[in-house]
Amino acid sequence: MSTTTSAFASAEAHTAHNYHPLPVVVATADGAWMTDVEGRRFLDMLAGYSALNFGHGNRRLIDAAKAQLDRVTLTSRAFHHDRFGDFCAQLAELCGMETVLPMNTGAEAVETAVKTARKWGYRVKGVPQGQAKIIVAANNFHGRTTTLISFSTDHEARADYGPYTPGFEIVPYGDLTALEAAMSANTVAVLLEPVQGEAGVLVPPHGYLPGVRRLTRERGVLFVADEIQSGLGRTGKTFACEHEGVVPDVYVLGKALGGGVVPVSAVVSSAEVLGVFRPGEHGSTFGGNPLACAVALEVIAMLRTGEFQARAAELGEHLHRELRLLAERGVVTEVRGRGLWAGVDVAPGLGTGREVSEKLMDRGVLVKDTHGATIRIAPPLVISKEDLDWGLDQLRAVLTD
Ligand SMILES: Cc1ncc(COP(=O)(O)O)c(C=O)c1O
Repeated sequence: MSTTTSAFASAEAHTAHNYHPLPVVVATADGAWMTDVEGRRFLDMLAGYSALNFGHGNRRLIDAAKAQLDRVTLTSRAFHHDRFGDFCAQLAELCGMETVLPMNTGAEAVETAVKTARKWGYRVKGVPQGQAKIIVAANNFHGRTTTLISFSTDHEARADYGPYTPGFEIVPYGDLTALEAAMSANTVAVLLEPVQGEAGVLVPPHGYLPGVRRLTRERGVLFVADEIQSGLGRTGKTFACEHEGVVPDVYVLGKALGGGVVPVSAVVSSAEVLGVFRPGEHGSTFGGNPLACAVALEVIAMLRTGEFQARAAELGEHLHRELRLLAERGVVTEVRGRGLWAGVDVAPGLGTGREVSEKLMDRGVLVKDTHGATIRIAPPLVISKEDLDWGLDQLRAVLTD
C-alpha cells in the first residue's frame, strides 16, 4: 500500500462520509502550493473555497497569529479584549458601514443575518410577530444549518432534514419581475449571493443587483448580500456588489476574513439595523475572539492596500481570456465568473467534473467539481502568473489530449 493510500484510508476510517475528497493527503502548504505525504507538489486552484485568498502560510497572517497566541487567545464576549474594538472599527470602515457583529463560520453569520432581518422587521418595520418573510434565490448556497438548508433548492443539501424552517420565499436568481412579485408588506429582507459560488460561479445579468437595490429601497426591505465567498478580493474588488455600483444594507462575510488561519465571520451593517440586538439576544462563545481579531485585522490591512483586488482583476482577466479560448475549441461549453474565479462546464463526452478533477490531480493541480459537469477554479490571489499558466496548461492538456 502506498503512503498516500494508507494515509487516505486512515483519514477516512473514522469520519462520517459527508465529503468525497480527491485521493490526496496534504502534509504542508506554502503560497499557492500544497505538498502531500509523499512529497508531491500540487497547485491549489481551489483555495479552500476562497478562505485562502492570501495563500497558504501567508507570512503576515502567520506572524500576527503567532504574536497573538503568546498574548491572549480567548476571553469570550463576557469581557472585552484589546483587539476587539480595532477589529470592529476597521472592518466597519472597510465595508463603509458602522457596526459589526462577529461570528465564526459563514453559516453562523448568515443565521445571524436572518435573525437580524427578522428582529429588524418586528422592531423597526412593524411586521406582525411571526409573519416576517425573507426572499432568497433558487440555487443559493448559504451554509448547512437546519434553517439555511430549509430554503436550499439542492436536493442533496436538503433531503431528510425536515421539518424545515418556514418564512422564506424562493425566486429565480436574476429575475427582477419574480422578485418584485414575491414582495409583500411582511418582507423584511432579500438575501442573495452577488455571484452564486457553489451553484457553479453564476454571475447575475447586468442590472440585476442595482434592480434588487432599487426594489428593496422602495419597499423598505433590507438587501442582505452574502459575500462570504465572493467578497474580500476574489472578484477583483473588495465586494462583488461593487462591480454594479451597489451597496447593500447588510454584508455577510466569512472565509477569507480568517485568512485561512482561523474561522472568522461577521455581519456588517448600520447602527440602526444591528442596533436591534440587546444583551442576551444573540451571541457566540468564540465570535470576535482575540486570535480571530488579530488575524482578521491583518486581513483588513492587506485589503486596504487594494493590491490583492488589483491582482485578482488582472490575473482574472488573463484566466478568463484563456478559458474562453478553451470554449472556442469546444472542449468547454460555458465559462462564467469574475476576477480570479471561474466556473467551467466541461463539454459532454470529455468526462464528468469529478473525472476532470482527478485527471488534473494526476497532473499536480487541485480543483473541485460541482453539479456534474462543472469545475471551479479559484486559486489563491497570491498565485504567480507563471503558476496560473502552468495550471491552465494542465487543464488544456486534460481536455484536449
Ligand atoms: C456564499 C456562502 N455563504 C455561506 C457559506 C457557508 O460558510 P461556512 O462553510 O463557513 O459555514 C458558504 C460556503 O461555501 C458560501 O459560499
